[in-house]
Amino acid sequence: MYAVRDGAAQDSAQVRVLPGILSEAVAELHDRLLDWAKLPEGPFPVAEVLGCFHSFGKHFVPLSLLQALDAARAASVAQDADSPLPRFLDCALDKLDDTYSYRSYLGLPLLTDARPPQRVTRPGSGPGSGCDELLILLMADLVRHECRPREGAEPPRLMVPPVGLSAKRARLALRLLCPALNRVAVSASLPEAAELSKRAQALVDDRTDDLPGARALAEEIWRIFPEERRQRVDMSLLPVYVVDDEYLFIRTLQAYELVFMELAAATAEAGDAVRRGRIPEATELMRGCASTLRENRQLFSLQATMRAEAFLKFRGYTLGSSAIQSEGYKAFEALFARPDEDRMGSLAYASVPRVRELVAHRGTGLVDDVVSAEAEAAADPELRAALVEVDETHQQWKRTHLRIATRMIGDEPGSGNTDGVAYLRSVMDNKVFPKDLKGLKDLKDPKEPS
Ligand code: HEM
Repeated sequence: MYAVRDGAAQDSAQVRVLPGILSEAVAELHDRLLDWAKLPEGPFPVAEVLGCFHSFGKHFVPLSLLQALDAARAASVAQDADSPLPRFLDCALDKLDDTYSYRSYLGLPLLTDARPPQRVTRPGSGPGSGCDELLILLMADLVRHECRPREGAEPPRLMVPPVGLSAKRARLALRLLCPALNRVAVSASLPEAAELSKRAQALVDDRTDDLPGARALAEEIWRIFPEERRQRVDMSLLPVYVVDDEYLFIRTLQAYELVFMELAAATAEAGDAVRRGRIPEATELMRGCASTLRENRQLFSLQATMRAEAFLKFRGYTLGSSAIQSEGYKAFEALFARPDEDRMGSLAYASVPRVRELVAHRGTGLVDDVVSAEAEAAADPELRAALVEVDETHQQWKRTHLRIATRMIGDEPGSGNTDGVAYLRSVMDNKVFPKDLKGLKDLKDPKEPS
């Protein structure tokens, strides 16, 4: 009834464990998809498709199923090109289409319509607390995943982490979402979010390994948002393989991507404020960036709980997707201070053509504008201090990233075609503040006695 691509599914744990049952389920789904493609009226079997991708891993989904999905995609575009379904199918079929990238691996089109330097928004809505809401959903979902029952889990899980490790991940994820919950309690008028934040903090402080307790709380948090938004977050998780830790890997990267998009947007806004002489506004935006970066450092602590041996099992299938393609990160870097010509001409920017265009369009970055401004901005000690703070927090981010990458891949090449850790070391010195602007750093603390 269906073909197996490259014969590769022989490698899939689920095929080894449950060949008969899975074959039947796949065959049934295949036929359902073709029926739906002919008459796209009833509900699309999203949960079943997701179940199949989680059972095989995107890299090993049988070719005939992908072809049936392709037929369904054509029907879904004709039906409603703006619904999440065509985006979901584009991300699911990226390997078949040869469009696989960091963006499709992370299912970013499902999470937000925005592209840097726009603020993260909820799909289909204007600006708002999109980033916080998504961060909460991503982290709550990670807790739900980590705390799922070990026995008889469906789909089955490979290399399931020990209970203690899952509990640690759950605590870190809950701690991360507490400040965001407090903010949405106000910004999205969700008073129950503040109460949930208190309970999450209490669970974190207890240092308990109570997985059912953490799962129940995460479920409550997950449900404060409407079904439509939750479904998009569900749809955005399409692992390439069946190793359990990939869930953590994807959720952490998605969260960081949204954070960098917000940083890029705030930096663009600060640049505009400086150009219009609105210095206090630019200063506040930059202080906000430093504090966002600090608040989300925990994402690295979470990522660092990934087991290197688990990562090595699935990273081969992620080749072609690397955070070197992160538009959020590169837009933040470039909008802060325009990179020098070497960096602009390097793989770092060849990997993000849209950001290269953005840089060409904007010309200079925020720091360049501040330093070249003759008036207020250049002389404002508070703004300079805020800029230095952002620069230093960013450098700290790079040091932590380098440490994690070294531990995870050692001397292996990077998935973005670089020589890996050696590349990351070489960009460590590539500080946001260019050398000839060092004078700005010397004026770091405006309150310090001279
Ligand atoms: C298992 C953990 C990680 C490893 C092993 C790792 C490894 C690497 C490597 C080797 C590169 C160089 C480009 C390449 O060839 O792929 C890179 C770049 C990058 N990574 Fe990671 N990374 C990890 C986690 C993260 C996380 C959680 C983020 C957060 C968004 C991140 C963001 C970035 C960014 C923005 C770049 C581009 C840096 C530049 O071009 O200057 N990485 N990473």
